[in-house]
Parts: sequence; C-alpha cells; structure tokens
Amino acid sequence: MQFVFSEEHLMIRKAARDFARTECLPGVIERDEKMIFPKQQVKQLAELGFMGMMVDPAYGGAGMDTISYVLAMEEISKIDASVSVCMSVNNSLVCWGLETYGSEEQKQQYLTPLARGIKDGDLYIGAFLLSEPEAGSDATSQHTTAEDKGDHYLLNGVKNWITNGSSASVYVVMAQTDVAKGPKGINAFIVEKKWPGVTVGAKENKMGIRGSDTHSIHFNDVKVPKENRIGDDGFGFTFAMKVLAGGRIGIASQALGIASGAYELSVNYAKERKAFGKEIMHHQAIQFKLADMATRIEAARLLCLKAAWEKDQHQDYTLSSSMAKVYASETAMWATTEAVQIHGGYGYVKEYHVERLMRDAKITQIYEGTSEVQRIVIGRSILK
Ligand code: CAA
Ligand code: FAD
Repeated sequence: MQFVFSEEHLMIRKAARDFARTECLPGVIERDEKMIFPKQQVKQLAELGFMGMMVDPAYGGAGMDTISYVLAMEEISKIDASVSVCMSVNNSLVCWGLETYGSEEQKQQYLTPLARGIKDGDLYIGAFLLSEPEAGSDATSQHTTAEDKGDHYLLNGVKNWITNGSSASVYVVMAQTDVAKGPKGINAFIVEKKWPGVTVGAKENKMGIRGSDTHSIHFNDVKVPKENRIGDDGFGFTFAMKVLAGGRIGIASQALGIASGAYELSVNYAKERKAFGKEIMHHQAIQFKLADMATRIEAARLLCLKAAWEKDQHQDYTLSSSMAKVYASETAMWATTEAVQIHGGYGYVKEYHVERLMRDAKITQIYEGTSEVQRIVIGRSILK
C-alpha cells in the first residue's frame, strides 16, 4: 500500500487550487447573496477539462482518474460549493452514466459536447432528474410516466430540486414506463430542455449553495425518441443507483472541501486573533478543536480516496462511496460549526466566509441520498 500521489495528481490539485483562488473567490459572497449562477466560472472549468474529467478523450473528456476528480472537487469546494456541485453533477451523474451505459450514437451526440462542457461557444451541461415532489429518498415511487408510443415515449410529470435545472441543456430523466413492474418498470431517458412540453419552474431560494440553480422541471406530453432511452427496457432504476454510487464520491469530496476550507480559515484566524494576551491558538480549547478538525478531515479524505481508488480499479465501490459520503458530510457540518465558533462574532458575518461554508455544508447531508439513506445502504451491506 502506498500513500503517494503521482506528479499528475499533484499538478491537477494545484491547477484546481489556483483556479479556485483566482477565479472562484472573487465575487463568491455576492453570488451567494444574490443567488447568481457562476456561469463564467463553470465555463472556465470546462476550458480546463474539469467538466468531463474522467471521460475518454475520444468523447471530449480529459481522461483523468477518479482520484484526480476527488482532488479537484476538494479544492474547488473549499472556495465555492455552488461551482463544485455543478461540476459534480455533470461529471458523475451525467457524463459517467452516458459513457458507461449510453449507446454509441448517444455518446457522439450528447456525451461529447457535455464532457467538453461547451457547444457552439456557449455552456453545454447536463442535469440528473430523479427526485419528485413525492419521491426523494423513496426513489422507486416515481410518478413521472413515459408511455410507450411505438417509435417514441410520451413523458409527463414533475421533477423537483434539480441542480443545473435552468443552466443545463440536457436532462437525464428517470420515469415509470410500466407501474406493474415496480422498479423494473423504470427507464432513464435523454431529454433536451428545448423540446416542446418542457418547462423550468422557479429558482429555489435556498439556505446554502445559493449560486447553484435548483429548479423543478415540468414535462407535458414531451415526445422522447426511442433511441434516447438509456440501456435496455427497465434498466432505469439500476442505472440511477449505479450512477449515484459514483455521484456520492463527488458529493463526499465536496463535503471534504467545505470542511477543509473551513479548517484552513480557522487555522489562519486562530494564529492572528488575540485574546487574553495571546493568539487564540495558544488556548488549548481552540487547539483541541483544530486538532479534532484536522483528524476528522483526514479520515474523510481517506474514505473519499479509497472509494475513488476502488472505482479506478473497477472494484465495487457502492459501500465505500456511501461511507465516504455520510462521514464527509457529517464532518463538514460539524467542522464548519466549529469554524464559526473559532471565529467568534466575526464568524457570524459574511466577510469571513465560514458562515457560508456552514450553510453550504448542510446540503451535503441531504442530496444524493440523505445520511439516513447512506446508513441504509451501509446497513444492508452489513446484513449481506
Ligand atoms: N446497484 C444496482 N442495483 C441496485 C442498487 C445498486 N447500488 N441499489 C438498488 N438496486 C436495485 C435492487 O437490486 C432492486 O432490484 P431487485 O428488486 O431486482 O433486487 C431495485 O434496485 C430496488 O432496490 P431496493 O429494493 O433496494 O430499493 P429501495 O426502495 O429499498 O431503495 C435506496 C433503496 C437505497 C433507499 C434508494 O432508493 C436510494 O438510493 N434513495 C435515495 C435517492 C437518491 O440518492 N437521490 C438522489 C437524487 S440526485 C441528487 O440529489 C443530485 C444532487 O443533489 C446534486
Ligand atoms: P424525504 O425522502 O422525504 O426525507 C425526509 C427525511 O426522512 C430525511 O431526513 C430522510 O433521511 C428521512 N427518511 C426517509 N426515508 C427514510 C427511511 N427509510 N429510513 C430513515 N429515514 C428516512 N434530486 C435530483 O434528482 N437531482 C438533483 O439534481 C437534485 N439536486 C438537489 C439540490 C438541492 C439543493 C436539494 C435540496 C435537493 C436536490 N435533489 C436532487 C433532491 C435530493 O436528492 C432529495 O432532497 C433527497 O434525496 C431527499 O429526498 P426528500 O427531500 O424527498 O426527503
């Protein structure tokens, strides 16, 4: 066993770190406050090859491994989790799913521009549409229907909480084609936002990741060509679960970045802020907080890297990705709360960034499977 990054990994981490500091940090407080989608930053990420990081270069990707993806996600999430969630969804939930399970035609037509993140000079990204008003954790309870009409399906229903909802051009949509078959009657489809019958609901006004554009998406008699179904008939739920196993590595890395961003700010602050005649880091209560933060963050990082390594080795990573996600997200919530405490009153105002990180941390315990869902996945694996 070797705990050593390659030269390439270190270069990618540095590129992501430099990008986050120079391009994402300016304006991050304003984007959060005014709910501005970070379009310019996401376009620049695409130019760096970070929107299709793991995709084969033959399909417009950068051909990097999952370890590189974890490193890049951590660095960008330290600064702006609204940028990194967009990156995570496009890489893990959209591109990986299409590359692994899509047909050659789907890869040529959709994956290639999505992995580049740019088409005809404009942003071209995807979204993943599983959740519904009444189907979140209980994801098999799909109410969106896709009726088989011979050469096409007719799609009807509503999807909720969709990340990249208005900025995406392409949606990967799960829908029920045969209720009698339960989860085996669910299919996944590639749907273009511009098609007749597709409408985007109002932008959600959220606690955190406020720059990210979260919307409901409505389908009213949308004609979806048969060739836009992903995989064999009935593969949709398994597809969603397989895709989410990888997605959870991305969100775990996002949580890791939020936690380590808060930790770095806290170390710097504790070295400067004086109380009772010395820098607060010399008060053992503060030092112990920093020690616990550093320890838990390192444990979260190792879980993320283990899941990524298993994925790169083509091993089963379902269990590791759930462990990484539940642990990293709970670490992020705890560490950001401690970071606010270390900053005292200054931690409670926007200029010091940690209050935003604390608000951003919360979503990592909810999306791509709540902490309870991750424990269901882990628990079932123990029972096996
Ligand atoms: N791989 C392959 N197949 C799987 C699977 C996996 N990891 N997990 C389940 N399946 C299969 C099962 O084998 C089963 O098929 P059989 O009946 O043939 O055995 C079928 O799918 C149904 O599975 P379960 O009976 O286990 O289903 P369940 O109703 O008990 O639910 C669950 C399991 C883990 C709770 C699942 O519903 C789940 O993950 N829920 C959370 C949904 C979620 O994560 N949503 C995220 C939306 S995307 C998002 O949030 C993006 C973002 O914010 C940025
Ligand atoms: P519910 O499933 O109703 O859960 C409510 C509570 O009950 C939770 O604490 C949950 O853990 C708990 N619970 C439910 N079932 C059980 C059980 N069996 N055992 C124990 N506890 C349980 N979805 C997408 O498809 N695509 C996206 O891009 C996307 N982006 C999102 C972005 C944001 C900002 C948000 C807020 C959500 C996003 N989601 C997205 C949806 C997200 O995945 C769901 O919110 C999440 O899966 C939880 O579903 P729910 O909100 O319906 O909560």
